[in-house]
Amino acid sequence: MLSMIVAMDVKRGIGKENKLLWHISEDLQYFKKLTSDRTVIMGRKTFESIGKPLPRRTNVILTRDVSYKAEGCLVYHSVDDVLSQYIKKEKEEVFIIGGEEIYRLFLPYADRLYITQVDGNFHADTFFPAVSSDEWELTSRQKGTQDTPCTYYFEIYDRKASESPRVHR
Ligand SMILES: NC(=O)c1ccc[n+]([C@@H]2O[C@H](COP(=O)([O-])OP(=O)(O)OC[C@H]3O[C@@H](n4cnc5c(N)ncnc54)[C@H](OP(=O)(O)O)[C@@H]3O)[C@@H](O)[C@H]2O)c1
Repeated sequence: MLSMIVAMDVKRGIGKENKLLWHISEDLQYFKKLTSDRTVIMGRKTFESIGKPLPRRTNVILTRDVSYKAEGCLVYHSVDDVLSQYIKKEKEEVFIIGGEEIYRLFLPYADRLYITQVDGNFHADTFFPAVSSDEWELTSRQKGTQDTPCTYYFEIYDRKASESPRVHR
């Protein structure tokens, strides 16, 4: 099963100058809980923004640079190779963790979206793609409990049964 996990503002903004837009520790804990012991797939820019492999996870980086190396990570150069290696329906949940370019590439193949929806406009320079209500249904929504300047919600969207994800062959 292929899932995406993202935190976005009201304009679907996710980052600025290759950094996150906020620090919400409850959201970081949520991310850690869901992705621990799983495979996380990210773009080269997101990896460099994090600066090191995420512990207790298989870290996969996508780059067009064939000489790119990152200790403790697996490096891939094409979406097809990642899909055929990691996205096998019957196996465990695999997470796409960003950023914008990588979310756009994998959204057609995704089954589930974990979206932390943060109230407010943070004037981002990178964005999550639009999520069509024709294809996705909100199956869970919980208000975050941490005392932060802005309200946030943990939302889960599942692809509608009538809208199968694109199948990779
Ligand atoms: N709010 C959130 O939940 C969240 C989560 C993750 C990231 N972010 C933010 O998102 C921003 C980064 O997003 P971004 O779109 O600039 O970068 P990105 O998606 O993290 O990485 C882009 C890189 O991926 C590689 N790539 C893209 N398409 C490819 C393809 N078809 N085949 C092989 N490699 C490919 C390229 O690497 P090369 O240039 O090396 O070829 C490209 O430069 C940052 O601000 C980060 O903080 C936010």
